Amino acid sequence: ETEPLVLGIESTCDETGFALVRGHELLVDRTSSSMDQHARYGGIIPEIASRAHLETFLPTLEQALAEAGVKLEEIDAVACSAGPGLIGSLTVGNCGAKAIAAALGKPLYGLNHVIGHLAVDQLVDGPFDGPFIGLIVSGGHSNLLLVNDIATDIVELGGTLDDAAGEAFDKVGRLLGLPYPGGPHVDRHGQAGNREAIKFPRGLSRPKDRIEHRWDFSFSGLKTAVARYIETLQREGKELPVDDICASFSEAVNDSLTSKAIDAALEHGIKTVVIGGGFSANSRLRELLNERAEAAGIEVRMPPLRYCTDNGAQIAALGANLVAAGLPSSPLNFSPDSSMPL
Ligand code: KG4
Ligand code: ZN
Repeated sequence: ETEPLVLGIESTCDETGFALVRGHELLVDRTSSSMDQHARYGGIIPEIASRAHLETFLPTLEQALAEAGVKLEEIDAVACSAGPGLIGSLTVGNCGAKAIAAALGKPLYGLNHVIGHLAVDQLVDGPFDGPFIGLIVSGGHSNLLLVNDIATDIVELGGTLDDAAGEAFDKVGRLLGLPYPGGPHVDRHGQAGNREAIKFPRGLSRPKDRIEHRWDFSFSGLKTAVARYIETLQREGKELPVDDICASFSEAVNDSLTSKAIDAALEHGIKTVVIGGGFSANSRLRELLNERAEAAGIEVRMPPLRYCTDNGAQIAALGANLVAAGLPSSPLNFSPDSSMPL
């Protein structure tokens, strides 16, 4: 009971999330999503997302507090994602977070949503006990990080040069006529297909790229190769081998992600890889990473599926790390940053 009670608030995209964390213990995690309202447009409509945050903010907060049996006054600190994300969504959530912090007279921490994707793992697998390689993969980001201390010392090794992993999956899903967001559908079809059926290219595998972009990712060339493959079959009036396309495409993406994560750990003498972000729910990523990590003698930590997509728990977890490290809170006049760097 001695550790501070942190309220985490997530509002970067379509999810309005609230969670309460004490130390590394998660008391409650409640999320409301506007995805149903976007699905028919085949993408997130920022205006709709902002309005949904405004409508669901207080009801979702009340549900979270009621479920945990906690009164707002009991909270010791408030943490909110301040970017990167949609500026309207962030603004609504940050206004709410500022209002709560100001009313309670408690510190407010404006945090980086992307780092939260790694921090959430502590709520399930316990505190981090040393440096690790972080692989964050979602609809908006693909990052490879060297994390010495999640609150104070993160080195960005590489990122995506074009499409993020989830984004590439969503685009291939669209090419195949699968519902939006396509990621989980492409994953499911891929499980039934042959991973070796089609030879798709691995981005950044030329000798020059291997030096200059040692830890970067690129998936747009792969996506174009998939598009060309589909167009050719369609022009010839042939039926699309959807399962095989998904399996072979998925293998190309996950080959790049897992080999770079393991190589980075080996080169930096680090024993642990942590993954996070919506795409870390991908079944082949989890399988291949486990296989390769085991062969390399590296430990893998991956949050359960419900903590892979955006949620308040990731923000509360990271907030608790900052509070524990004694870091200063954010000034109440901070602005959200839609393209916040790491
Ligand atoms: O982290 P997230 O919820 O939101 C962002 O910050 O982007 O990630 C959402 C992304 C979407 O692109 C979605 O298609 C993808 O994660 N995704 C998956 C799977 N589950 C979610 N992609 C591939 N396989 C999955 N199982
Ligand atoms: Zn995210």
